[in-house]
Amino acid sequence: MRNIFPRWSNTIPVKLILSLGILGAVVTAGITYYATPKYTRVGYQPTQPVSYNHEFHAGELGLDCRYCHTGVDKSSHANIPGANVCMSCHQNIKGDSPLLEPVRASFYGEDSNKDGKLSDGEDVNEDGILNAGPAIPWVRIHKAPDYVYFNHAIHVNRGISCVECHGRVDQMVEVHHDKHLSMAFCLDCHRNPEKALRPLDEVTNLSWQVSDEDGVDPLIAQVHAGLELKDNWGVHPPLSCTGCHR
Ligand code: HEC
Ligand code: HEC
Ligand code: HEC
Ligand code: HEC
Ligand code: HEC
Repeated sequence: MRNIFPRWSNTIPVKLILSLGILGAVVTAGITYYATPKYTRVGYQPTQPVSYNHEFHAGELGLDCRYCHTGVDKSSHANIPGANVCMSCHQNIKGDSPLLEPVRASFYGEDSNKDGKLSDGEDVNEDGILNAGPAIPWVRIHKAPDYVYFNHAIHVNRGISCVECHGRVDQMVEVHHDKHLSMAFCLDCHRNPEKALRPLDEVTNLSWQVSDEDGVDPLIAQVHAGLELKDNWGVHPPLSCTGCHR
């Protein structure tokens, strides 16, 4: 009876403990991976060189996001506007506000007498006075890792609003990182895009909601409308690894 268990079985407890240890490490890594961005990114709100206010300009004044972020529906990248965009208003409005000094420095550059000529008499550029100085040193808030492929235009032109990924920017005095934008976050929508799809002309209207029918739960109403758009547009967001890691 003494030999009913073969000799190698003596090491089973050790192996069990080892493999439990490895499993534990994998689970920990998984939790760290999914959870970390929530703690490290959400709320990130660096101090900007100019106290530019989205709540005022995009909310109260009602400027469309694309007035400044002109690339957002045309390219993968959502650009930050140059000083000339600000100066189209601020040459006249609050023209000598000290708060706008970095904007003027970027716009006029070395053209200190503001006549379109640099000190050596050269024209600033053919169009007149446009961003002759260094770019305004805005601090970047959102950044996808290099190994992730992301494209704004694909999303914006498929009825995915800025609000899904950036929150209510039109209510932010200073922009902060609102959603964690982890892989789980992307996949969550890619599996069920109907929860987010909306008519194209509403993508920059961050307060938009599907019009409520009497007695229908708003979430169900959104899913109904979203499923219809998904069908009409043939929406199939990638779920495979190579879809986002190219
Ligand atoms: C008048 C120009 C203007 C308009 C209109 C505007 N923005 Fe911006 N936006 C900026 C500038 C300048 C910055 C960089 C400074 C900052 O972060 O506040 C910026 C930054 C951002 C950022 C953070 C960028 C980063 O570094 O990650 C997001 C997100 C954003 N805008 C979204 C929006 C959305 C959504 C709208 C429409 C509701 C909008 N913006 C309207 C000028 C504008
Ligand atoms: C469509 C016109 C328009 C554009 C474009 C615009 N602004 Fe403004 N901005 C305004 C108005 C209007 C005010 C409020 C002026 C007031 O309080 O009397 C204002 C106020 C400001 C103020 C506060 C100034 C102060 O002294 O109180 C700052 C700073 C500012 N804007 C920065 C920017 C920046 C940076 C950009 C470009 C990214 C920009 N604005 C683009 C119209 C504009
Ligand atoms: C599906 C998610 C998603 C949607 C929808 C979305 N964004 Fe973004 N946005 C991102 C991600 C991810 C980044 C970081 C991209 C990178 O690092 O290349 C980003 C970055 C930005 C930046 C910073 C770019 C820079 O170089 O500093 C701005 C500005 C911005 N988005 C504006 C917008 C606006 C305006 C809209 C709506 C018209 C919008 N985004 C819609 C996910 C989204
Ligand atoms: C709220 C919904 C939503 C979120 C969040 C979202 N996506 Fe998407 N994504 C879509 C939709 C809708 C499409 C378009 C699919 C189609 O046209 O068939 C798409 C398409 C794509 C594509 C395909 C682009 C191409 O060239 O065909 C990539 C890549 C992608 N998303 C990456 C991401 C990444 C990375 C994130 C997270 C940072 C993200 N998405 C977050 C809804 C979303
Ligand atoms: C919808 C887009 C999308 C798809 C599909 C996707 N990923 Fe990712 N993945 C991301 C994003 C976004 C990040 C970066 C998350 C962050 O910044 O925290 C990421 C990060 C990663 C990382 C790095 C983890 C870390 O610790 O930072 C690995 C590994 C990875 N993905 C593997 C995969 C594999 C394997 C698949 C296929 C099963 C896959 N991904 C499918 C969007 C995607």
